[in-house]
Amino acid sequence: MSTKLSEPNQRGLALADGIVGAGHVLQEVLSGKSLTQVLEKWNGPNKPAVQSLAYDTIRFWALTQHFIEQLIPKRPTEEVEGILAVAVALLANNKMHSKNNQYPIHTIVNEAVKAAANNSKTKFAQGFMNAVLRKIIHALDEDETLVKKKTLFFPQWWLKNLRRDYPSQWELICAEQSKRPPQIIRVNQRSYTKTQYCDLLNQAKIEYRQIESIAGIATDDALEIINPLPVKDIPEFNLGKVSIQDAGAQIAVKLLAPQAGEKILDACAAPGGKTAHLLESADIDLLSLDIDPERIKKINQDLTRLNLSASRVRIVCGDASKDNWWDQKSFDKILLDLPCSASGIVRRHPDITLLRRKTDVLELQARQRAIIDNVWKMLRPGGTILLVTCSIFAQEGEEQAKWLEAQMNNALRLESPGQIIPGPMNDGFFYALFEKKNAIQRTAQNAVSI
Ligand SMILES: C[S@@+](CC[C@H](N)C(=O)[O-])C[C@H]1O[C@@H](n2cnc3c(N)ncnc32)[C@H](O)[C@@H]1O
Repeated sequence: MSTKLSEPNQRGLALADGIVGAGHVLQEVLSGKSLTQVLEKWNGPNKPAVQSLAYDTIRFWALTQHFIEQLIPKRPTEEVEGILAVAVALLANNKMHSKNNQYPIHTIVNEAVKAAANNSKTKFAQGFMNAVLRKIIHALDEDETLVKKKTLFFPQWWLKNLRRDYPSQWELICAEQSKRPPQIIRVNQRSYTKTQYCDLLNQAKIEYRQIESIAGIATDDALEIINPLPVKDIPEFNLGKVSIQDAGAQIAVKLLAPQAGEKILDACAAPGGKTAHLLESADIDLLSLDIDPERIKKINQDLTRLNLSASRVRIVCGDASKDNWWDQKSFDKILLDLPCSASGIVRRHPDITLLRRKTDVLELQARQRAIIDNVWKMLRPGGTILLVTCSIFAQEGEEQAKWLEAQMNNALRLESPGQIIPGPMNDGFFYALFEKKNAIQRTAQNAVSI
């Protein structure tokens, strides 16, 4: 009899089939596609199960590599490697997490062998799979620290960047980023206060944790669901009363502090997490811009779910480094959530460390500067602009803030958290807030400096 997938994947799919599916997803990611791209197109059975196995497989990719190098004289074929990698992730989870939620070791071995047997390209490797997994189990028993040391794969250039930017914290950062992410929700304050929503969670017997602040900024709308749930099981998610959003991302809107009647630009808006949070926070006049038409569709979908589609928001497909979408009317505030390496959110997107190239960071830095340079003139004197990236590399954070200050002679840097490193409740983000000084302030300052 075959073993069925356990929670959160209890849909009747045999574990062996899930292993085969996740192995395929891994192969696609190794060929250069993102997990999101592959899974969006995935139309095999039981997507949630394959998805959760695939994420964990990538989280333990460095451990699989270690075993391939140490224990296997000749590199296996791609298909065999896929099955092996999923089995390694299952074995590692068995070591790291509560035994109640994991598969027993003998089940993992049996199902991985069955997965190999089910496919003509891997059938020949049943004996190999059995033998190598037994060696791996032995190695994991011998060295209990292995699962913690060798989890997420980080390329050498990435580690070099981290060592340079965080000489004493880089190892801690890597460890934090190798974990499964917490599930954080944002309560739609147009519907419920956090306290009222906690009552719903209590009634549904869902355990949660309050998140008071991140980097000293109050997170009035954020809660952690302690045992992550599919969104359909989160009370009133489908009615738009809550959204999924990391607590570190939620402070963007707190820092920008939108006020009723303000004209605001969300310059890189898709898929719309911060657009929605802005609209939940105040009756503003919002322009949400993004260059990617596919991602823009997601903004519309989310605003419909949140009952915010009737708000004063215009969603426009356009390039923030160009002017052709601008009506020449200045904005009171600008949120600039720039395209970046996403090096701060690898806990949620573990494929990023496999997909990024060393040259990406400097290319992104140049693209970010072109956007900053262009939208600065669109801000009214006295207005504020918030620079945001979900990166932990200084080249996309502090270096950009310093560049802006040096480049724009009327920029005043205001207090804001700067670099936030990944922690238990938040991913890694960079925040820098600037005011555009008005003409009088500038004259006065010039007079002093003369
Ligand atoms: C970090 S994501 C934004 C996340 C979004 N603010 C949210 O909270 O959901 C960066 C976005 O910038 C967009 N982008 C990249 N280059 C752009 C450009 N030149 N003009 C406008 N949008 C751009 C990308 O399509 C991507 O959706």
